[in-house]
Order: sequence, then structure tokens, then C-alpha cells
Amino acid sequence: MNYETRMRAKADALIQKGHALVLGVESSCDETAVAVVEDGRLERSCAIASQIDTHALYGGVVPEIASRMHVEAIDPLLDQALDQAGVSLSDIDAVAVTCGPGLVGALLTGVSWAKSLAYARDLPLIGVNHIEGHVSANYVAHPDLTPPFVCLVASGGHSHIVLVQRYGEYRLLGQTTDDAAGEAFDKVARVLGIPYPGGPLLDKLAEEGDERAYHFPRPVTQGKYDFSFSGLKTAVINQAHRLEMMGTPIVAKDWAASFRRSVVDLLADKAVSAATDSGATRLAAAGGVAANSLLRRELVRKGEAAGLKVFLPPKRLCTDNAVMIASAGFYRLMAGNLASLDLNALPAISMLE
Ligand code: KG4
Ligand code: ZN
Repeated sequence: MNYETRMRAKADALIQKGHALVLGVESSCDETAVAVVEDGRLERSCAIASQIDTHALYGGVVPEIASRMHVEAIDPLLDQALDQAGVSLSDIDAVAVTCGPGLVGALLTGVSWAKSLAYARDLPLIGVNHIEGHVSANYVAHPDLTPPFVCLVASGGHSHIVLVQRYGEYRLLGQTTDDAAGEAFDKVARVLGIPYPGGPLLDKLAEEGDERAYHFPRPVTQGKYDFSFSGLKTAVINQAHRLEMMGTPIVAKDWAASFRRSVVDLLADKAVSAATDSGATRLAAAGGVAANSLLRRELVRKGEAAGLKVFLPPKRLCTDNAVMIASAGFYRLMAGNLASLDLNALPAISMLE
């Protein structure tokens, strides 16, 4: 029996039982992560090595450095994840790995590593869409959350509003037409002299600022649930340069607060109306930007005012991790959705693939 036939039989047995201990692997950008999750819901371990300090020296992610650092970090992270979970490799039922979207070289390190492990240990392999992974962080954080629900996914590379119809079945309701929300945060932070990735620090600074101090344009988009951040970002950056030329100092905390308010209003208003218009009763959020303090407060405030139950993962599960990949992998496994050994990195894969 070849590997693929054996894996199909193994997966069928796991589907019959409805249980699986899944090892998740994430390497799509600047975090290497390995985690163990039981039945898609119970976090047994979460090991992460962040490369942020290295990339901060260059003001952004350097793809070649990212790939090399993933290769160095991944083996020790496996030991750490197994230790934390109190299990050995022989207890693992399947390996789930992010196959896209992301940086091609970075993705390839995780994908080839996971393929080798799955082949060597005779384990089913599952390819996971990174954005689907972000959505699935909510399954671990909220054991009572089941589809259908609407999810706002906002990170450094993506800004989407999706209707999760069933596990693994999504309808795209809206998305950014240009920059991602996190990207806009990072670029505006740079103007304020905040090091990469600027989002979290800008958020902290904004907590002390006056959000009415500066007026920034409200981006307009054609699609009712689409976003556009590029115009806002450019307006904010141009205004900063204009003030600088006039010798007028920018009050960084007020600037950060005013910008954060514009982005958050846009994200929260669109997410809430997408949820209510589609008849959903539950709204979730995911991705690095879902760690934003004001966005979290506003999603709860506006969502609850609209009669929605709002679900937010803890901040540590909003940014990249492998717990979310293992969770998404479990539901793909239960749907019989296995990858073969020719699984490749898919840097530009969309949410719905
Ligand atoms: O999900 P993530 O870790 O990686 C991607 O898949 O892109 O998201 C990282 C992004 C960065 O742009 C970072 O600045 C942003 O999420 N981010 C935040 C906050 N925490 C992380 N943006 C605004 N406020 C935050 N608190
Ligand atoms: Zn991400």
C-alpha cells in the first residue's frame, strides 16, 4: 500500500472516532510556530519563535532572512511543543501545515519540513490556508462557537469579512481593495518613528492620545463591505510631511489615536453591518489587527448594540501562531481533506481555496 492509500485509511479511522491530536506548523511570515491541539478545540501547547527583532533592523520582513530563520527554529520548536503538551511524536495523529498565502520561501520551509515529518512518521498531512487558520483561533478560544458566523479577519497581509457557513466553507462578503489594515498601521507608525511592526506600539501610544485632535479622511469604497486603506494611509503620511515642512510638531499620541479611530471605525462598522445584513447572530474577529485595543472595544460595543454576540480570541492567538493552524487542520481532516506529498507552497492562495 502506498503512502497516500495508507493515509486515506488512517484519516477514515480518525473521522470515525471524531478525535485527533493534530500537530500544527506555521512559517508563512516572520513567526515560526509549532503547536499541539486536541480535537480542534483544546490547546495542548503553543511554541513560537518570533523573528521580529531581526526584521525590525531593516524596517520590515526580509524574505531570505525569514526563510533561514525558520529552518533554524523549527526543530527545537517541535521538541518544545511536544514537551509542553506532555506527548511524544507517536501520540500525534496528523500534521497540519500552512501552505499559503505568505512569503514563498518562508512557506516552503514549513511545508517541506511537515511533509518530511508526515512521511517519516506515516502520518496524514493537511495543507491549511493561513487566513482560515486565523478564523479557527476562535474555535480554540471559544469552545461554544460553531458556524454559521461572520468573521472579520484583519492582519498584516489580509483584510476580509467572511461568512463561515460550515467548518471550512466560507463566503467572502468583503475585502480590502488595496492595503491590508495591519500594513496601514505599520506604515503610519513608521512616520511616527515607531519601529516595525508598528501596529502594537501605535495602539499603545493611541491609548493616551486625543482621537479628535486630527482629522483624517474616511475612505469610501464601492463594495458595501469592502475596505480601502491606501488613500487614508497616503493622506496621513502627506499631512505629516506637510506639518513637518511648516515646522509644526506632530503630537504623536494624538496622531496615533486619530488614525486608529479612522481605521477602527471602518473595520468595526463594516463588520457589524455585514453580520447583521447577512442574518448572522454571531460576529468573530481574527488576525493581528484583532489584537487592537480599540477595535476589540468597538466590535463588542457596536456588535452588541446591533444584537450580535461577539467573539474575540485572546490577543496572543490573534497574531501568527500554530494553534490556529492545528485547529483548522483538524476540521479539514474531519472533512477528509488531506494533502498529498506533492503539496506546494501557494503564496497567493485566496481565502476560498
Ligand atoms: O496576523 P499577523 O500576526 O500576521 C499576518 O498574517 O499578517 O498580523 C500582524 C499584523 C502587523 O501588521 C501588526 O502591526 C498588526 O498585525 N498588529 C496590530 C496590533 N497587533 C498586531 N495592529 C494594530 N493594533 C495592534 N494591537
Ligand atoms: Zn497571519
